[in-house]
Amino acid sequence: MRCQDRVGLGELAMKKINVALAFGVLSVSIQATPLFAETVQSLRGDIPVEKPAEIPPVPRTMAVDGGIDVNYEDQPPLIPHSIDKTRITLNQNSCLSCHSREYSKTENAVRPPKSHYKTRDGKKLKQISTGRYFCTQCHVPQAYTKPLVQNDFKSQPE
Ligand code: HEC
Ligand code: HEC
Repeated sequence: MRCQDRVGLGELAMKKINVALAFGVLSVSIQATPLFAETVQSLRGDIPVEKPAEIPPVPRTMAVDGGIDVNYEDQPPLIPHSIDKTRITLNQNSCLSCHSREYSKTENAVRPPKSHYKTRDGKKLKQISTGRYFCTQCHVPQAYTKPLVQNDFKSQPE
């Protein structure tokens, strides 16, 4: 049995070498025809790293009536309004001055779903879960900008 095992391992090692060789050849051919031919220029432009660059203008946030369609299931919905003046600090979360259970009705703001009022073990909470406190970790606004690279992404049908 032992002996057979060794042979088995030896064969496996040979296969690994073959795979490695195959990848070696592949990487050479990739170098010859680069996959990402498009050159991407950073927002700094041609200014070298050690020189100060001009700060690019902050783009205007999109305001979309009725919300922005999601691109795939379970995507955190995008923020359809400006959040330039909204602050989330350790002591205060201004998103909740509109989106919390107390204010969502008067502010006509969408209520966060039940998932936001549960601990990770599924225990129900009265307050928003601390795991959801930093809303912009998942929800982001959109802005009118020119795409840096061409993009033909299509939304996943629901
Ligand atoms: C001044 C009140 C107000 C504040 C502050 C506010 N929102 Fe909103 N939000 C709204 C209203 C009203 C809507 C409904 C859509 C609309 O009219 O823009 C909305 C919509 C949304 C939606 C879309 C929900 C959906 O189902 O499409 C998300 C996500 C959202 N807000 C997240 C946030 C986050 C995160 C913050 C903090 C960074 C925030 N909002 C701060 C009022 C507010
Ligand atoms: C860890 C990621 C995450 C964080 C942090 C988070 N959310 Fe969400 N949110 C989601 C996802 C994912 C959904 C959609 C799926 C669902 O129902 O959970 C959602 C849905 C929503 C909706 C849409 C409800 C509807 O019926 O259309 C609102 C409003 C919302 N969140 C507000 C907030 C606010 C306000 C905060 C901060 C207090 C926040 N979220 C923090 C991931 C997050």
